[in-house]
Amino acid sequence: MKKVLVTIIVMVVVMAAAALGVIYGGAYDVAASTSDSPLVRWALTTTRENAVKREAQGIEVPESVHQPDQALLRRGFVHYDDMCVTCHAAPGVDPGEIRAGLNPKPPRLARRASKRSLAELFWVSKHGIRMTGMPAWGETHSDEELWAVVAFVKHLPKLSAQEYAAMREQADNAGHQHEGHAH
Ligand code: HEC
Repeated sequence: MKKVLVTIIVMVVVMAAAALGVIYGGAYDVAASTSDSPLVRWALTTTRENAVKREAQGIEVPESVHQPDQALLRRGFVHYDDMCVTCHAAPGVDPGEIRAGLNPKPPRLARRASKRSLAELFWVSKHGIRMTGMPAWGETHSDEELWAVVAFVKHLPKLSAQEYAAMREQADNAGHQHEGHAH
């Protein structure tokens, strides 16, 4: 019994020393240009998937977001086109150069959004995902603005490139591009 205990203590001390060696020695490749190993990727994405699902559980989706009207979609579009398209692209719109260098890569929301509930889209948009490039937009935008963005994001998979371009033109004509925006 005592022998087992001593062995366990020695193992814990050795593992702690090894971990501290990695941390203080900087012996882990933190480059964004290096891909994570399959095991690390699995651990991170599984944690993210389950965390987002759990966090989204208590969120109540406003009725207007379930059945968005054109005005809400237009409001969401202006924000999306301004703040999200460089990383997440859109029908007929390539992402900016920033996407190529990001690790993990931002998903194309025109494909991904249909797999996410409105509450999940809202939670991620508001709180972001730490240690990825995904910002917490709740720092600079009200819940009301973010729900408009979420309504638009959910609508993205149904939009053609022509429809996206038409919304851009409409927004430009209305001079709404930077309405209510300090950036
Ligand atoms: C600087 C780049 C960047 C910008 C700008 C950005 N995002 Fe992201 N976003 C990311 C990255 C990177 C991820 C993937 C994080 C991961 O893999 O864990 C992500 C993930 C997401 C997801 C989760 C996708 C999923 O189902 O896995 C949503 C939803 C999202 N972003 C919404 C938005 C919205 C809405 C905006 C604009 C208001 C926005 N993002 C702007 C980088 C960005």
